[in-house]
Amino acid sequence: DDPRIHDIKSKIRVVPNFPKPGIMFQDITTLLLDPKTFKNTVDLFVERYKNKNISVVAGIEARGFIFGPPIALAIGAKFVPLRKPRKLPGEVISEEYTLEYGRDCLEMHIGAVEPDERALVVDDLIATGGTLCAAMNLLERAGAEVVECACLIELPDLKGRDRLKGKPLYVLVESH
Ligand code: PRP
Ligand code: MG
Repeated sequence: DDPRIHDIKSKIRVVPNFPKPGIMFQDITTLLLDPKTFKNTVDLFVERYKNKNISVVAGIEARGFIFGPPIALAIGAKFVPLRKPRKLPGEVISEEYTLEYGRDCLEMHIGAVEPDERALVVDDLIATGGTLCAAMNLLERAGAEVVECACLIELPDLKGRDRLKGKPLYVLVESH
């Protein structure tokens, strides 16, 4: 039991009924306010991934952009942003996914990832798993091998893990 995990969990603010009734929002901005906790969060991922020959860290807009880049820098990997539609100027591949209400889409620049690269996908949270699944599909379509997905928080009751096609998922804390 790593004391850093307890500290991280204690710094995540849970906001009931945001952004709509019935949702318990997991707010990581409170964690970011403590530099030691923020560093511990990044360090835990870096310790896990530093010797795994990962060449690319893919971060999911928006909150995956907070944690992905410091992990990428520390393990010597490149960072590739997976963006919401119509934000990237170059030629892209797209993956649609379902949300609780409606659909959304992630895009990645063609050529950002080369075939046979080893990828880590980073986001703040897995709920239904639709977002991470779309991210994995983008990387696999580009020919990369997704080594693992990494999140700070899992909502295990939503069973998002089951949508990841057997790929390993590593999380720091669970929230029920
Ligand atoms: C949240 C969260 C994850 C995603 C998880 O992002 O940051 O990316 O939802 O949900 P899922 O597992 O059910 O797909 P959101 O799309 O709300 O936007 P943001 O990161 O841009 O704030
Ligand atoms: Mg997100």
